[in-house]
Amino acid sequence: MQIRIEPLSNPRPAEFPQELGFGRYFTNRMFTQRYSPEDGWHDASIVPYQALALDPASHILHCGQDVFEGIKAYPRPHSQASFFRIDRNAERFNRSARRMGMPAIDPDMHIEAIETLIRLEHEWIPSQPGSALYIRPVMLATEPTLEVRASRTFLHFVILSPVGPYFGSAMTPVPVFISHDYVRAVRGGTGEAKTIANYAGSIFVTEEARARGFQQVLWLDAVERRYVEEVGGMNIAFVYDGKHVRTPALSGSILPGVTRESILQLGPDLGLEVSEDRIDVREMFADIESGRITEAFAMGTGAVIAPVGRFGYKEKNYVINDNETGPVAQRLFEALTDIQYGRVADPYGWTRNFAVGDNNAGAQKVARA
Ligand SMILES: Cc1ncc(COP(=O)(O)O)c(C=O)c1O
Repeated sequence: MQIRIEPLSNPRPAEFPQELGFGRYFTNRMFTQRYSPEDGWHDASIVPYQALALDPASHILHCGQDVFEGIKAYPRPHSQASFFRIDRNAERFNRSARRMGMPAIDPDMHIEAIETLIRLEHEWIPSQPGSALYIRPVMLATEPTLEVRASRTFLHFVILSPVGPYFGSAMTPVPVFISHDYVRAVRGGTGEAKTIANYAGSIFVTEEARARGFQQVLWLDAVERRYVEEVGGMNIAFVYDGKHVRTPALSGSILPGVTRESILQLGPDLGLEVSEDRIDVREMFADIESGRITEAFAMGTGAVIAPVGRFGYKEKNYVINDNETGPVAQRLFEALTDIQYGRVADPYGWTRNFAVGDNNAGAQKVARA
Protein backbone atom coordinates (compact mmCIF):
# COMPACT_ATOMS: atom_id res chain seq x y z
CA MET A 1 0.00 0.00 0.00
CA GLN A 2 1.19 3.47 -0.83
CA ILE A 3 0.99 6.23 1.72
CA ARG A 4 1.00 9.79 0.45
CA ILE A 5 2.98 12.01 2.78
CA GLU A 6 2.03 15.68 2.78
CA PRO A 7 4.67 18.22 3.68
CA LEU A 8 4.42 20.24 6.89
CA SER A 9 4.73 23.96 6.46
CA ASN A 10 5.41 24.97 10.07
CA PRO A 11 6.26 21.92 12.16
CA ARG A 12 6.19 22.61 15.89
CA PRO A 13 9.38 21.42 17.56
CA ALA A 14 8.83 18.40 19.78
CA GLU A 15 8.85 20.28 23.06
CA PHE A 16 6.67 19.21 25.88
CA PRO A 17 6.62 19.85 29.62
CA GLN A 18 8.06 17.49 32.20
CA GLU A 19 4.49 16.79 33.40
CA LEU A 20 3.03 15.24 30.27
CA GLY A 21 -0.17 13.91 31.77
CA PHE A 22 -2.26 11.66 29.54
CA GLY A 23 -3.45 12.64 26.05
CA ARG A 24 -2.94 16.40 26.39
CA TYR A 25 -0.32 16.95 23.67
CA PHE A 26 -0.43 15.80 20.08
CA THR A 27 2.24 15.52 17.43
CA ASN A 28 2.44 17.39 14.10
CA ARG A 29 1.02 14.73 11.82
CA MET A 30 -1.77 12.15 11.60
CA PHE A 31 -2.54 9.17 9.40
CA THR A 32 -5.85 9.02 7.53
CA GLN A 33 -7.53 6.77 4.99
CA ARG A 34 -11.09 6.53 3.73
CA TYR A 35 -13.44 3.68 2.93
CA SER A 36 -16.20 3.39 0.37
CA PRO A 37 -17.89 0.23 -0.94
CA GLU A 38 -16.65 1.02 -4.46
CA ASP A 39 -13.00 1.67 -3.60
CA GLY A 40 -12.50 -0.16 -0.30
CA TRP A 41 -9.85 1.53 1.86
CA HIS A 42 -8.14 4.22 -0.18
CA ASP A 43 -6.31 7.55 -0.06
CA ALA A 44 -3.91 6.49 2.71
CA SER A 45 -2.11 9.67 3.72
CA ILE A 46 0.00 11.20 6.43
CA VAL A 47 -1.14 14.79 6.71
CA PRO A 48 -0.61 17.69 9.13
CA TYR A 49 -2.59 17.16 12.38
CA GLN A 50 -5.85 18.96 11.75
CA ALA A 51 -9.52 19.28 12.66
CA LEU A 52 -11.86 16.89 10.86
CA ALA A 53 -14.45 18.35 8.51
CA LEU A 54 -17.65 16.38 9.14
CA ASP A 55 -21.03 16.88 7.52
CA PRO A 56 -23.54 17.63 10.31
CA ALA A 57 -25.54 14.61 9.08
CA SER A 58 -22.52 12.30 9.42
CA HIS A 59 -23.60 8.92 10.71
CA ILE A 60 -21.16 9.03 13.65
CA LEU A 61 -22.98 12.05 15.10
CA HIS A 62 -26.37 10.33 15.04
CA CYS A 63 -25.82 6.58 15.30
CA GLY A 64 -22.29 6.48 16.75
CA GLN A 65 -20.61 3.85 14.57
CA ASP A 66 -17.08 4.25 15.93
CA VAL A 67 -14.27 2.06 17.24
CA PHE A 68 -10.88 2.97 18.63
CA GLU A 69 -7.72 1.56 20.18
CA GLY A 70 -5.02 2.55 22.65
CA ILE A 71 -1.43 1.34 22.23
CA LYS A 72 1.98 2.62 23.29
CA ALA A 73 5.30 2.93 21.46
CA TYR A 74 8.19 2.75 23.91
CA PRO A 75 11.56 4.45 23.52
CA ARG A 76 14.57 2.30 22.72
CA PRO A 77 18.22 3.27 22.36
CA HIS A 78 19.99 3.42 18.96
CA SER A 79 17.22 5.19 17.04
CA GLN A 80 14.66 2.52 17.68
CA ALA A 81 11.20 2.34 19.21
CA SER A 82 9.14 -0.63 20.25
CA PHE A 83 5.50 -1.65 20.15
CA PHE A 84 4.00 -3.89 22.82
CA ARG A 85 1.67 -6.54 21.34
CA ILE A 86 0.37 -4.19 18.68
CA ASP A 87 -0.89 -7.20 16.72
CA ARG A 88 -3.38 -7.92 19.54
CA ASN A 89 -4.64 -4.33 19.36
CA ALA A 90 -5.03 -4.55 15.59
CA GLU A 91 -7.02 -7.78 15.99
CA ARG A 92 -9.22 -6.18 18.66
CA PHE A 93 -9.77 -3.15 16.39
CA ASN A 94 -11.16 -5.49 13.74
CA ARG A 95 -13.24 -7.46 16.25
CA SER A 96 -14.72 -4.21 17.55
CA ALA A 97 -15.35 -3.02 13.98
CA ARG A 98 -17.15 -6.25 13.13
CA ARG A 99 -19.42 -5.93 16.18
CA MET A 100 -20.22 -2.36 15.20
CA GLY A 101 -21.01 -3.24 11.57
CA MET A 102 -17.90 -1.54 10.22
CA PRO A 103 -15.34 -2.71 7.64
CA ALA A 104 -12.13 -4.50 8.62
CA ILE A 105 -8.73 -2.95 8.10
CA ASP A 106 -5.71 -4.94 6.96
CA PRO A 107 -3.86 -5.39 10.29
CA ASP A 108 -0.41 -5.46 8.67
CA MET A 109 -1.14 -2.30 6.74
CA HIS A 110 -2.54 -0.63 9.86
CA ILE A 111 0.64 -1.45 11.79
CA GLU A 112 2.87 -0.32 8.92
CA ALA A 113 0.95 2.96 8.70
CA ILE A 114 1.48 3.54 12.45
CA GLU A 115 5.16 2.69 12.07
CA THR A 116 5.54 5.14 9.18
CA LEU A 117 3.77 7.87 11.15
CA ILE A 118 5.98 7.30 14.20
CA ARG A 119 9.10 7.28 12.05
CA LEU A 120 8.16 10.79 10.90
CA GLU A 121 7.26 11.88 14.43
CA HIS A 122 9.97 10.04 16.34
CA GLU A 123 11.19 13.21 18.04
CA TRP A 124 7.93 13.16 20.00
CA ILE A 125 8.72 9.87 21.71
CA PRO A 126 9.35 11.06 25.27
CA SER A 127 12.36 9.71 27.10
CA GLN A 128 11.46 10.48 30.73
CA PRO A 129 11.18 7.28 32.79
CA GLY A 130 7.75 5.71 32.49
CA SER A 131 6.66 7.83 29.53
CA ALA A 132 5.75 6.64 26.04
CA LEU A 133 4.14 7.71 22.78
CA TYR A 134 0.45 6.83 22.99
CA ILE A 135 -1.18 5.77 19.73
CA ARG A 136 -4.89 6.33 19.18
CA PRO A 137 -6.34 4.68 16.05
CA VAL A 138 -10.01 5.50 15.37
CA MET A 139 -12.55 4.42 12.75
CA LEU A 140 -15.78 6.36 12.36
CA ALA A 141 -18.82 6.49 10.09
CA THR A 142 -18.90 9.49 7.76
CA GLU A 143 -21.85 9.00 5.44
CA PRO A 144 -24.33 11.89 5.67
CA THR A 145 -27.55 10.07 6.53
CA LEU A 146 -30.11 10.04 9.31
CA GLU A 147 -31.20 6.51 8.45
CA VAL A 148 -30.53 3.94 11.16
CA ARG A 149 -28.37 1.47 9.24
CA ALA A 150 -24.67 0.92 8.56
CA SER A 151 -22.85 3.88 7.09
CA ARG A 152 -21.42 3.28 3.63
CA THR A 153 -18.33 5.40 4.15
CA PHE A 154 -15.77 5.49 6.93
CA LEU A 155 -12.68 7.37 8.01
CA HIS A 156 -9.77 5.62 9.72
CA PHE A 157 -7.24 7.89 11.39
CA VAL A 158 -4.35 7.61 13.82
CA ILE A 159 -3.07 10.35 16.12
CA LEU A 160 -0.11 10.28 18.52
CA SER A 161 0.28 11.75 21.99
CA PRO A 162 3.39 11.76 24.19
CA VAL A 163 2.21 10.60 27.64
CA GLY A 164 3.84 10.56 31.05
CA PRO A 165 3.84 7.83 33.67
CA TYR A 166 0.42 7.30 35.25
CA PHE A 167 2.01 7.35 38.69
CA GLY A 168 4.94 9.54 39.73
CA SER A 169 7.85 7.94 41.54
CA ALA A 170 5.71 5.39 43.40
CA MET A 171 2.40 3.65 42.67
CA THR A 172 -0.40 5.12 44.74
CA PRO A 173 -3.48 2.97 45.35
CA VAL A 174 -6.70 4.39 43.91
CA PRO A 175 -10.11 4.44 45.59
CA VAL A 176 -12.75 2.68 43.45
CA PHE A 177 -16.53 3.04 43.70
CA ILE A 178 -18.67 -0.03 42.94
CA SER A 179 -21.78 0.96 41.04
CA HIS A 180 -25.00 -0.76 42.03
CA ASP A 181 -27.47 1.58 40.33
CA TYR A 182 -25.84 1.80 36.91
CA VAL A 183 -24.24 -0.74 34.59
CA ARG A 184 -21.70 -0.40 31.83
CA ALA A 185 -22.50 -3.25 29.47
CA VAL A 186 -24.59 -6.38 29.16
CA ARG A 187 -23.71 -9.68 27.56
CA GLY A 188 -24.78 -9.53 23.92
CA GLY A 189 -24.33 -5.75 23.93
CA THR A 190 -21.18 -3.89 22.93
CA GLY A 191 -19.10 -4.18 26.13
CA GLU A 192 -16.42 -6.35 24.59
CA ALA A 193 -15.97 -3.89 21.69
CA LYS A 194 -13.85 -0.78 22.14
CA THR A 195 -16.53 1.65 21.01
CA ILE A 196 -17.32 5.12 22.30
CA ALA A 197 -20.85 4.39 23.54
CA ASN A 198 -19.49 2.19 26.35
CA TYR A 199 -17.50 5.14 27.65
CA ALA A 200 -20.18 7.79 27.08
CA GLY A 201 -22.58 5.94 29.35
CA SER A 202 -19.99 5.66 32.12
CA ILE A 203 -19.07 9.33 32.41
CA PHE A 204 -21.97 10.50 34.55
CA VAL A 205 -21.40 7.66 37.01
CA THR A 206 -17.65 8.29 37.15
CA GLU A 207 -18.24 11.98 37.83
CA GLU A 208 -20.64 11.10 40.66
CA ALA A 209 -18.05 8.71 42.08
CA ARG A 210 -15.38 11.45 41.86
CA ALA A 211 -17.61 13.86 43.74
CA ARG A 212 -17.72 11.24 46.52
CA GLY A 213 -13.93 10.94 46.70
CA PHE A 214 -13.38 7.95 44.39
CA GLN A 215 -11.23 7.88 41.29
CA GLN A 216 -12.75 5.07 39.23
CA VAL A 217 -15.87 2.93 38.97
CA LEU A 218 -15.97 -0.87 39.17
CA TRP A 219 -18.88 -2.27 37.16
CA LEU A 220 -20.92 -5.30 38.09
CA ASP A 221 -22.72 -7.57 35.61
CA ALA A 222 -25.84 -5.93 34.23
CA VAL A 223 -28.27 -8.80 34.90
CA GLU A 224 -27.72 -9.79 38.54
CA ARG A 225 -25.57 -6.83 39.60
CA ARG A 226 -23.54 -9.34 41.49
CA TYR A 227 -20.52 -10.44 39.48
CA VAL A 228 -17.44 -8.24 39.18
CA GLU A 229 -16.69 -7.10 35.60
CA GLU A 230 -14.10 -4.33 35.12
CA VAL A 231 -13.02 -0.83 36.08
CA GLY A 232 -13.64 2.24 33.81
CA GLY A 233 -10.81 1.75 31.32
CA MET A 234 -9.05 -1.21 32.90
CA ASN A 235 -9.56 -4.85 33.83
CA ILE A 236 -9.52 -5.91 37.48
CA ALA A 237 -7.70 -8.63 39.44
CA PHE A 238 -7.55 -9.74 43.08
CA VAL A 239 -4.65 -11.39 44.87
CA TYR A 240 -5.55 -14.19 47.27
CA ASP A 241 -3.18 -15.14 50.08
CA GLY A 242 -0.35 -13.20 48.45
CA LYS A 243 0.10 -15.73 45.64
CA HIS A 244 -3.03 -16.33 43.60
CA VAL A 245 -4.12 -13.75 40.99
CA ARG A 246 -7.81 -14.10 40.17
CA THR A 247 -9.58 -12.06 37.49
CA PRO A 248 -13.15 -12.17 36.15
CA ALA A 249 -13.48 -14.49 33.15
CA LEU A 250 -14.34 -12.73 29.89
CA SER A 251 -18.10 -12.78 30.04
CA GLY A 252 -19.03 -11.18 26.72
CA SER A 253 -19.47 -7.76 28.32
CA ILE A 254 -15.86 -7.22 29.46
CA LEU A 255 -13.25 -5.68 27.17
CA PRO A 256 -10.50 -8.30 26.63
CA GLY A 257 -7.49 -6.26 27.71
CA VAL A 258 -4.04 -6.90 26.29
CA THR A 259 -2.49 -6.10 29.69
CA ARG A 260 -4.83 -8.60 31.39
CA GLU A 261 -3.90 -11.29 28.86
CA SER A 262 -0.19 -10.57 29.37
CA ILE A 263 -0.45 -10.74 33.16
CA LEU A 264 -2.25 -14.08 32.97
CA GLN A 265 0.68 -15.37 30.93
CA LEU A 266 3.40 -13.71 32.98
CA GLY A 267 2.05 -14.62 36.44
CA PRO A 268 2.92 -18.33 36.44
CA ASP A 269 6.47 -17.52 35.33
CA LEU A 270 6.80 -15.39 38.46
CA GLY A 271 5.58 -18.26 40.62
CA LEU A 272 2.01 -16.97 40.88
CA GLU A 273 -1.12 -19.00 40.44
CA VAL A 274 -3.61 -17.37 38.04
CA SER A 275 -7.27 -18.06 37.36
CA GLU A 276 -10.23 -16.59 35.50
CA ASP A 277 -13.75 -17.20 36.76
CA ARG A 278 -16.90 -15.48 38.01
CA ILE A 279 -16.25 -13.37 41.08
CA ASP A 280 -19.26 -12.67 43.26
CA VAL A 281 -18.97 -9.20 44.78
CA ARG A 282 -20.39 -10.41 48.12
CA GLU A 283 -17.76 -13.14 48.29
CA MET A 284 -15.18 -10.50 47.39
CA PHE A 285 -16.26 -8.29 50.32
CA ALA A 286 -16.08 -11.26 52.70
CA ASP A 287 -12.61 -12.14 51.38
CA ILE A 288 -11.40 -8.58 51.87
CA GLU A 289 -12.76 -8.53 55.41
CA SER A 290 -11.25 -11.92 56.29
CA GLY A 291 -7.88 -10.89 54.81
CA ARG A 292 -7.88 -13.64 52.16
CA ILE A 293 -7.75 -10.95 49.48
CA THR A 294 -4.39 -9.38 50.12
CA GLU A 295 -4.35 -7.02 47.10
CA ALA A 296 -6.52 -5.74 44.28
CA PHE A 297 -5.29 -4.02 41.15
CA ALA A 298 -6.56 -2.73 37.81
CA MET A 299 -4.63 -3.36 34.60
CA GLY A 300 -4.53 -1.56 31.26
CA THR A 301 -2.24 0.09 28.73
CA GLY A 302 -2.33 3.53 30.39
CA ALA A 303 -1.20 2.77 33.94
CA VAL A 304 -0.14 -0.87 33.27
CA ILE A 305 -1.04 -1.72 36.92
CA ALA A 306 -3.05 0.49 39.26
CA PRO A 307 -3.43 -0.89 42.80
CA VAL A 308 -6.83 -0.43 44.43
CA GLY A 309 -6.61 0.80 48.02
CA ARG A 310 -10.30 0.91 48.84
CA PHE A 311 -13.64 -0.10 47.36
CA GLY A 312 -16.80 1.83 48.22
CA TYR A 313 -20.15 0.06 47.86
CA LYS A 314 -23.40 1.66 48.92
CA GLU A 315 -22.32 3.39 52.14
CA LYS A 316 -19.57 0.99 53.14
CA ASN A 317 -15.81 1.04 52.51
CA TYR A 318 -13.59 -2.01 52.09
CA VAL A 319 -9.90 -1.20 52.56
CA ILE A 320 -7.29 -3.49 51.05
CA ASN A 321 -3.73 -3.96 52.29
CA ASP A 322 -3.99 -0.86 54.52
CA ASN A 323 -4.32 1.23 51.37
CA GLU A 324 -0.75 0.41 50.37
CA THR A 325 0.64 -1.00 47.14
CA GLY A 326 1.18 -4.72 47.61
CA PRO A 327 4.16 -6.83 46.57
CA VAL A 328 2.35 -8.77 43.82
CA ALA A 329 1.14 -5.61 42.03
CA GLN A 330 4.62 -4.14 42.35
CA ARG A 331 6.30 -7.27 40.97
CA LEU A 332 3.91 -7.64 38.06
CA PHE A 333 4.29 -3.95 37.23
CA GLU A 334 8.07 -4.23 37.22
CA ALA A 335 8.11 -7.48 35.23
CA LEU A 336 5.80 -6.12 32.56
CA THR A 337 7.37 -2.66 32.25
CA ASP A 338 10.86 -4.22 32.17
CA ILE A 339 9.78 -6.03 29.01
CA GLN A 340 7.95 -3.00 27.57
CA TYR A 341 10.93 -0.68 28.09
CA GLY A 342 13.45 -3.29 26.94
CA ARG A 343 15.26 -3.45 30.30
CA VAL A 344 15.17 -7.25 30.09
CA ALA A 345 14.97 -9.71 27.21
CA ASP A 346 11.43 -10.47 26.02
CA PRO A 347 10.94 -14.24 26.16
CA TYR A 348 7.33 -13.99 24.93
CA GLY A 349 7.84 -12.24 21.58
CA TRP A 350 5.55 -9.41 22.72
CA THR A 351 7.75 -6.51 21.69
CA ARG A 352 8.36 -5.40 18.12
CA ASN A 353 11.30 -3.06 17.63
CA PHE A 354 11.52 -0.80 14.62
CA ALA A 355 13.99 1.81 13.41
CA VAL A 356 12.86 5.41 13.72
CA GLY A 357 16.03 7.40 13.25
CA ASP A 358 16.57 7.02 9.54
CA ASN A 359 13.52 8.90 8.38
CA ASN A 360 13.45 11.91 6.10
CA ALA A 361 11.17 14.05 8.24
CA GLY A 362 9.98 16.60 5.71
CA ALA A 363 9.52 14.05 2.96
CA GLN A 364 6.87 14.78 0.38
CA LYS A 365 7.48 11.51 -1.30
CA VAL A 366 5.34 8.46 -1.46
CA ALA A 367 6.54 5.93 1.09
CA ARG A 368 6.09 2.22 0.82
CA ALA A 369 4.22 0.65 3.73
C1 LIG B 1 -13.11 -0.79 29.27
C2 LIG B 1 -11.68 -1.20 29.23
N1 LIG B 1 -11.32 -2.32 29.87
C3 LIG B 1 -10.04 -2.75 29.86
C4 LIG B 1 -9.05 -2.04 29.21
C5 LIG B 1 -7.63 -2.53 29.24
O1 LIG B 1 -7.23 -2.96 27.97
P1 LIG B 1 -5.71 -2.94 27.53
O2 LIG B 1 -4.95 -3.71 28.53
O3 LIG B 1 -5.71 -3.57 26.18
O4 LIG B 1 -5.29 -1.51 27.50
C6 LIG B 1 -9.38 -0.85 28.54
C7 LIG B 1 -8.38 -0.09 27.80
O5 LIG B 1 -8.31 -0.21 26.59
C8 LIG B 1 -10.72 -0.42 28.53
O6 LIG B 1 -11.08 0.70 27.92
